[in-house]
Amino acid sequence: MTITTLPRTFKVKSFGCQMNAYDGERMAELLSAQGMEPVDGDADLVVLNTCHIREKAAEKVYSDIGRIVKNWSRDDGSAPLIAVAGCVAQAEGEEIMRRAPAVRMVVGPQAYHRLPAMIAEAAAGRASTDTDMPADAKFAALPPRRRSAPGAFLTVQEGCDKFCTYCVVPYTRGAEISRPFAALLTEAESLVAAGAREITLLGQNVNAWRHDGKGLADLIRALAEMPALARIRYTTSHPADMDDALIAAHGDVPKLMPFLHLPVQSGSDRILKAMNRSHTVESYMRLLERVRAVRPDIALSGDFIVGFPGESEADFAATLALVDAVGYAQAYSFKYSPRPGTPAATMAEQIAPEVMDERLQRLQAALNRDQVGFNGSTVGRRCTVMVERRGKLPGQWLGKSPWLQSVHFLGEATIGDLVEVDLIEAGANSLAGRLVERVLG
Ligand code: 5AD
Ligand code: SF4
Repeated sequence: MTITTLPRTFKVKSFGCQMNAYDGERMAELLSAQGMEPVDGDADLVVLNTCHIREKAAEKVYSDIGRIVKNWSRDDGSAPLIAVAGCVAQAEGEEIMRRAPAVRMVVGPQAYHRLPAMIAEAAAGRASTDTDMPADAKFAALPPRRRSAPGAFLTVQEGCDKFCTYCVVPYTRGAEISRPFAALLTEAESLVAAGAREITLLGQNVNAWRHDGKGLADLIRALAEMPALARIRYTTSHPADMDDALIAAHGDVPKLMPFLHLPVQSGSDRILKAMNRSHTVESYMRLLERVRAVRPDIALSGDFIVGFPGESEADFAATLALVDAVGYAQAYSFKYSPRPGTPAATMAEQIAPEVMDERLQRLQAALNRDQVGFNGSTVGRRCTVMVERRGKLPGQWLGKSPWLQSVHFLGEATIGDLVEVDLIEAGANSLAGRLVERVLG
């Protein structure tokens, strides 16, 4: 039996990238504005905000649905309303309800502002699917921001026109759209008024953001004018959209943190071409040189795919050589995963799983080595840390350095503080700091 009255409680579970985390927060705000209450335990409404970037993501959704239905134990035997949102919803549409009849709503990433109407339908016994992709209608229909952690996300751009041959994003998130400048300033102001000290601008191709002749650097400079906002970050960037103005901003906007996530994917020009990446190893390295020239301490991050169809041992060796040459502060690496409907999925010379495993291990060993090296190189430095939460030990606090490292320290602080800390010891994933002083309460 399903619930036939409107749900009173809800839970949103987000998987995948930071853009999904942002969407999850916005859905929670939308549902709260309808009078529903967020809960951690059993909820009348469960929204699974899914990711489709690599294999098994869709399968994970079905096992999650199975688990929710199985664990549901209400005295009256009623079942929760289940909504599947995010990129699996976009990619699979109604098929989801055929496979998992417990699901009553399927809503794509550009249509979740319509959830309240869909919930009313579902409560009246009617299932619905909405995978429309109207440009920017969603944001205008969402309630204003009222709550924020010290570190807030702000989606400025969505979708992708690049069509890398392995990637499902252009199909699930649609064409590139940029949100209007004024709407972004308004949202940033509400976030800061609600307690945000750091804003991370988000987009699948965040540095492709353009509006009214302005580019991302102009947006960053406008946000930097807000006195209560201390830090600005952005992710994820494409090398092709890294323009002069954005590079210059890294040199002369102190609030723009010294961190750049710039995925390269492979260190072989042959594979980059087959991936339809528009950069070469040389153009990528030149770009990094220019960023380092204006901001020598910048922490570099990237994404890598091993085992793309046709990747030879020599191609992979070129990726390792690129890693050695760059010295990433941190990076993400993945085994190639064929995505239905993408050109690479049907390319000849798919790579055997054991070859991918072995290459991934070698790549991750090199990346870990560099991460440890980078963390070690910051020991002895004094920096600000934005306090995000309490640590496990009494009097311990956790936060982020300007280079996005996790830092723990002991002393007096409050969540949202920016404190000055001496970095005294480095591990692979975090650093210990000694509190010098509170900078901004
Ligand atoms: N297989 C493996 N990794 C992928 N990524 C995107 N699509 C795939 C795929 N089909 C990785 C890329 C991208 C990151 C978000 O996920 O490295 O930058
Ligand atoms: Fe996918 Fe390439 Fe677009 Fe990134 S740039 S979202 S990898 S198609």
